[in-house]
Amino acid sequence: MIILGIETSCDETAAAVVEDNLVRSDVIHTQIALHAEFGGVVPELASRDHLRNIRPVVDQALADAKVSLDDIDAVAVTCRPGLTGALLIGTQLANALCWASEKPLIGVDHLIGHLLAVFLDFPGKDCPPPPQFPFIGLVASGGHTAIYRVGGPTHESIVELGATRDDAAGEAYDKIAKLLGLGYPGGPIIDQLAQEGDPYKIELSTPMKNRKSLEFSFSGLKTQVARWVQKNGLPKNDDTLRNLCAAFQRIVVDTLIEKSIAAAKMEKITTIALAGGVSANSELRGRGRELCKNAEIDLIVPHFSACTDNAAMIAYAGSFQALRGENNRDGLEVSPRSILPRLTVKGGSDRRR
Ligand code: KG4
Ligand code: ZN
Repeated sequence: MIILGIETSCDETAAAVVEDNLVRSDVIHTQIALHAEFGGVVPELASRDHLRNIRPVVDQALADAKVSLDDIDAVAVTCRPGLTGALLIGTQLANALCWASEKPLIGVDHLIGHLLAVFLDFPGKDCPPPPQFPFIGLVASGGHTAIYRVGGPTHESIVELGATRDDAAGEAYDKIAKLLGLGYPGGPIIDQLAQEGDPYKIELSTPMKNRKSLEFSFSGLKTQVARWVQKNGLPKNDDTLRNLCAAFQRIVVDTLIEKSIAAAKMEKITTIALAGGVSANSELRGRGRELCKNAEIDLIVPHFSACTDNAAMIAYAGSFQALRGENNRDGLEVSPRSILPRLTVKGGSDRRR
């Protein structure tokens, strides 16, 4: 099955052609430079930039894969969650293409795309062997941080076991980098500085450490760093800055991995797959693997191209919906929220405490 995927949920305008799990083309126009001076994504600017770039990006994806619209079986487009104005640019174009070519339109949940990205085969890139269902999926990006039990490739088989109560992990990186005047996006900059720092020189406490819950909270950690700066002043580009970054990063990585391992143990599953931009983090990939190994769990770390926002993951996730005959051409619902169900326990929102 050949699917054209389109992704515009946040700050990447992306299109890809995927045949089964083989990525035949993968085009991404990033808006990082556009939002850099604001230290985060400005929704209005994002929508306008998607509008400028979506058509050439889609044309390029078709050209790179050497196909035309006639050759594809369906168009899959991210329809939730994301910035509404940004989502509308991708979904409108996808809808128009589908009416013009009489192909099925498939609306895809961006988070399912992230969770299935580990199955993608990017030619010429070192992609790990894909996991077997069920596996535990950890999505850690700028907009989302949550743990899922992934029992199959469609939404009925995926359940959220725990999510952040406030900031996403990547958002915490970006906000702390902004506070420290380091630039945007903060993740790669802090990651680099942390590698040369000592995580034990500056004491920061781990949020929600003693709770058995699989929920996260990163906003308190951000406040701790802000308080440290208020008390000690903004660190220069020196060892203190590197130690502060290392202390912050160690807590983020420990929290993400420990909660994922706890989820795996609860669900009696022995595989965890990473997803989302924060999976590019060197410590998460390196020390994360060690922590998992000690817990007798296999950590699958996808190629970097599969971690960050892309349209190949949307095309692949959409292929399972296309296979069962879905077609949303007559009414595609666009929503800022995901439809993935949450695991709930009686008497409270804090699950499995
Ligand atoms: O998945 P993604 O490309 O877009 C969203 O859906 O948000 O993730 C972007 C996030 C940003 O917050 C960025 O700071 C973070 O991923 N990130 C990292 C690293 N590289 C990117 N965070 C930690 N370490 C990194 N090396
Ligand atoms: Zn994403």
